[in-house]
Amino acid sequence: MFTHSRKEFGEDFIFGVAMAAHQIEGGQTDGRGSSIWDTFAATPGNIKNAENGIIACDHYNRWAEDLDLIRDGGFDAYRFSFSWPRLIPEGSGAVNQKGADFYDRLIDGMLERGIKPLATLYHWDLPSALQDKGGWMNRATAEAFADYAAEVGRRFGDRLATTATFNEPWCVTVLSHLLGIHAPGYRDIRAASRAMHHVMLAHGLGIDALRAEGVKNLGIVVNMEKCEPLTASPEDRKAADLGDAIFNQFFLDAAFHGSYPALVTDIIEPYLPKDWQADMQQIARPLDWVGVNYYTRSLYRHDASVPAFPFTQSRGDLAKNDLGWETYPVALTEFLQRVSDNYTKLPIYVTENGMSGPDDDSRIDFFDQHFEAIRQAQKNGVDVRGYVAWTLIDNFEWAEGFSARFGIVGMDPNTLDRQPRGSYRAFQDMLSR
Ligand code: FCB
Repeated sequence: MFTHSRKEFGEDFIFGVAMAAHQIEGGQTDGRGSSIWDTFAATPGNIKNAENGIIACDHYNRWAEDLDLIRDGGFDAYRFSFSWPRLIPEGSGAVNQKGADFYDRLIDGMLERGIKPLATLYHWDLPSALQDKGGWMNRATAEAFADYAAEVGRRFGDRLATTATFNEPWCVTVLSHLLGIHAPGYRDIRAASRAMHHVMLAHGLGIDALRAEGVKNLGIVVNMEKCEPLTASPEDRKAADLGDAIFNQFFLDAAFHGSYPALVTDIIEPYLPKDWQADMQQIARPLDWVGVNYYTRSLYRHDASVPAFPFTQSRGDLAKNDLGWETYPVALTEFLQRVSDNYTKLPIYVTENGMSGPDDDSRIDFFDQHFEAIRQAQKNGVDVRGYVAWTLIDNFEWAEGFSARFGIVGMDPNTLDRQPRGSYRAFQDMLSR
């Protein structure tokens, strides 16, 4: 059980769980278009054990059972994502009515159960038709995103409690276009730099499009990772500072200050689209809240043999999850403080946080330690309004396939049966007191 109770966080504080379309839906039927994650998973060597999201948790068919789990857990909210290719199979143009009907059922199902819908427009499943034209390397994708945002706004906007444009722009760009680990799997600094700018442009255009449709409570979700030097040497310190600028400043600077950190533009300027500065005002649109996803820290070592970003990263020797991510809760307090001090006094939500592994007691401990980190931030005056756990059900963990288990509910991949774990019951207990 948790040492913390719901009451400590304040009356309006909300607790939720998060899942993302491609990781759970399956249901590659009824007119859903192809996404970059379908083709990435179909390509040899990209996903552990050659797994894929073709069936995933079959949430497309089992959504009602899953919403019951959220309600019975005592959660206030469900953070879900729309699948762009389910709604607009070719990325732009015609809407797939059966896809729209699915999200109608899902959202109405949340409202009937008293669950607040926290929507995300882009949790990584870009329509393949747009990737064929360059995906995030192409400015036109940002415009297509704005049209998609308007479509979502018109159809569903008045039923959504909050709407985020993007989940984790760092993953969409750096992890996917520079490090090649996520779809579309590029390892190209020009591709990455263009994606970094076009994703932020899409964010700003998307915010305007949603607002024009009357949608309220708009935000963006960034992931933050503590960047620490491996040793006390000044070179390693510099490496960690650069890592921090890319990971923790680039996207927030853009969204809230209309600028990019000089440490990063000094390196990527030659690869950014021409006249990128002219877009910065369009990027920094007013928002209503900001979401922070937080999992772990990374240690940076200066390495002059690495071009552009002269460092290598490693993990330290704190307790780890089964993906090797260290548990480091104090950094969550720091990040919440930092967002409040450096960026905005708007409400902050912890939109993801969780632990993969077979040992559910460690998972319970992990959550409890991060509750403490949030309480500390609140005591310091930071306006944290919610906590969303990753995740409800074990699901398709991207390049890790189904080997990672972040769920507070387990799932047998053969039967697709859901099995609530002790951590689910710990939430149930905590949310009742
Ligand atoms: C985050 C992603 C989420 C899941 C968790 C473990 O980076 O947003 O989809 O993969 O990590």
